[in-house]
Amino acid sequence: MKLFIYGANGAAIEIYDLAYRINMTNNKYSEIILIDDFQDEIEYYGTKRIRFSSCKKVAGEEEMEFIIAVGEPSSRKLLADRIVDNGYKLTTLIDESAIVSETATIAPGCIINAGAIVSSKVCLDENCMVMYQAIIGHDAHVKSNCVICPKATVGGNSIVGERCFLGISSSMKQGVNLGNDVIIGMGSMVFRDVEAKNTVVGNPARITKGNSEHKVFI
Ligand SMILES: CC(C)(COP(=O)(O)OP(=O)(O)OC[C@H]1O[C@@H](n2cnc3c(N)ncnc32)[C@H](O)[C@@H]1OP(=O)(O)O)[C@@H](O)C(=O)NCCC(=O)NCCS
Repeated sequence: MKLFIYGANGAAIEIYDLAYRINMTNNKYSEIILIDDFQDEIEYYGTKRIRFSSCKKVAGEEEMEFIIAVGEPSSRKLLADRIVDNGYKLTTLIDESAIVSETATIAPGCIINAGAIVSSKVCLDENCMVMYQAIIGHDAHVKSNCVICPKATVGGNSIVGERCFLGISSSMKQGVNLGNDVIIGMGSMVFRDVEAKNTVVGNPARITKGNSEHKVFI
């Protein structure tokens, strides 16, 4: 098999390292390749970096697996759709040091990086990225294409809507629900439900602006 990591900026090299670590143990991939549609096709970070349109030149369809290494939730959705529309398959990457309950459900496309904890009966929908040392509490449901940054905590029994972004070290109280496309700023503490398409920051977190652009990183 060959693993294609879509996105070749900072997140991509972290995910490359994760895939490399996993591959040291299970030897699943003969090659790990980066995809960046905005850069020249040259070697980068010790591996090939190609455009999406070139994937089929370097591997047969049945030997390709994809993972998305982009921290912008709306872009994760766009790239996932492109992969699936081309008939390719998303895989899952889980670091050996992560604690993932046997009763958690992890959909294709999800990344769970080093030191993260995904607790009992958690449901992670397609294509979510759970970064270093993030914690998802019991019975939480994280919907598709979310990004949970390092050390962010989702309290038990919470619902995180589609394409939400939880900034570094932010926390959600147990049982709190976020609508789709919500951004929680770095270090913020969320005590109440947040309606769709809002950005909240601070402690206690308050709405500062909308997120109708679906963009965390401008
Ligand atoms: C929430 C966020 C998206 C807002 O970005 P933005 O719209 O560009 O906001 P600005 O930087 O213009 O700040 C607007 C105001 O909100 C404040 N603010 C921004 N983020 C804040 C945060 N996380 N907590 C408290 N206040 C915050 C700013 O200080 C500023 O206040 P001021 O008007 O009194 O000066 C951004 O600040 C953030 O937290 N991003 C996540 C960072 C992160 O976790 N990165 C992870 C990479 S792995």
